[in-house]
Amino acid sequence: MSPLRSTLLLTAMILAGEDFAEAQQSKANYDEARVGSYTLPEALVLADGSAVKTAGDWTQRRRPEVLKLYQDHVYGRVPVGLGAPAFQVKAVKKDALGGKATRKLIQITLPSCPAWEGIELMLYTPNAATGPVPCVAGLSFGGNHAVSPETDIPLSTRWMRPNKEKGIVDNRATEASRGNESSRWPLALILDQGFAVATAYYGDIEPDHAEGWKTGLRGLTAKDGTATVWNNGDWGAISAWAWGLSRILDCLETETAVDAKRCAVIGHSRLGKTSLWAGAQDERFAFVISNNSGEGGAALMRRNFGETTAVITKAFPHWFTPTYTSYANNEAACPVDQHLLIALAAPRPIYIGSAVEDEWADPKGEFLSGYHASPVYALFDHPGVGTDQQPGIDTPVGGRIGYHVRNGGHDVKDYDWQQYLAFARKNGL
Ligand code: GCU
Repeated sequence: MSPLRSTLLLTAMILAGEDFAEAQQSKANYDEARVGSYTLPEALVLADGSAVKTAGDWTQRRRPEVLKLYQDHVYGRVPVGLGAPAFQVKAVKKDALGGKATRKLIQITLPSCPAWEGIELMLYTPNAATGPVPCVAGLSFGGNHAVSPETDIPLSTRWMRPNKEKGIVDNRATEASRGNESSRWPLALILDQGFAVATAYYGDIEPDHAEGWKTGLRGLTAKDGTATVWNNGDWGAISAWAWGLSRILDCLETETAVDAKRCAVIGHSRLGKTSLWAGAQDERFAFVISNNSGEGGAALMRRNFGETTAVITKAFPHWFTPTYTSYANNEAACPVDQHLLIALAAPRPIYIGSAVEDEWADPKGEFLSGYHASPVYALFDHPGVGTDQQPGIDTPVGGRIGYHVRNGGHDVKDYDWQQYLAFARKNGL
């Protein structure tokens, strides 16, 4: 096949997944009366039927069981033997953002896999700090040049999803792409509150389309290269992206300006699913934040409201381990539901941010995950969301599990950040 033809086919395929999901949005159920009844898997019962009564029972017995269920049935397992990453500081700017911050660009690579170009990490630390600061780490959709308003950041050269409005031409960023994600990353607001920001482009780890693994970390580290067939339990793209977040945390542990023991992990939408899974697996993340993560993230899969398992596994099969597809229209057979993903963060603080117009992500289902995870937090004497009623718009609730439903649609707003940072401080970060 000619290169042009294969590029066109690939573009058509990627658009087909995104378009399919979008077309389903108008056909989904948004009627609470039609959600139907469901029974959630028990958080506090072990596979052998015995009860989880103490924090120790959870940590030593139930948590490992639930983690394994998520690996086997939802996101898949990171292969062993990838080894430790290496870090190389590429650039340091001490008067970034008008003198407010120091900006470092650091390349994170994997010595066991030289074919993988690695992650370009962008780290901002507040210059006003008098000691190591807490940090918020998260992946972006558009790359560092899209997150930052600063125009001296190298444009990402990686593959990007087609998007004319964001200045993506032939799957590559252009000068017109600069700053197009900056409203979602209010750097000054975050730095002024004494937090560092660590971010990287998710496509550095794997391009986000059904065949992205071939040129991403999953394909490059596979023993049989691009001929790999993914089996049940193998990692999907969300697992690969989450792995990248943990490598960012490895790097932050070597940065003296950052207190890596106070590092939050954040993500929006598909990257919110990713931050939840990263926080579930890597207990070094001290605080887990999900922004509008929806189906496959914070929303209960058994609730038929907004996006469904059938839609997500058809549109984005590469995000999950193949097993997950078998739960399309068959959610009751899945041994987990998403309250258990929230519970995997226990006893660390976790925050679930919804938006009222983002019905596709099922705001109420996101609240209910937090609600049904609360008994696990109670084992640690921590309050969970603290209410069985989804709160009103712009009314944050919660003790150790935070929740709000913001005015507006699917996005990350200053309001969201203000709640996340206040909650972080309240919970000791
Ligand atoms: C689609 C998809 C969602 C996802 C979202 C996003 O809408 O159906 O599951 O969260 O894209 O990542 O923007």
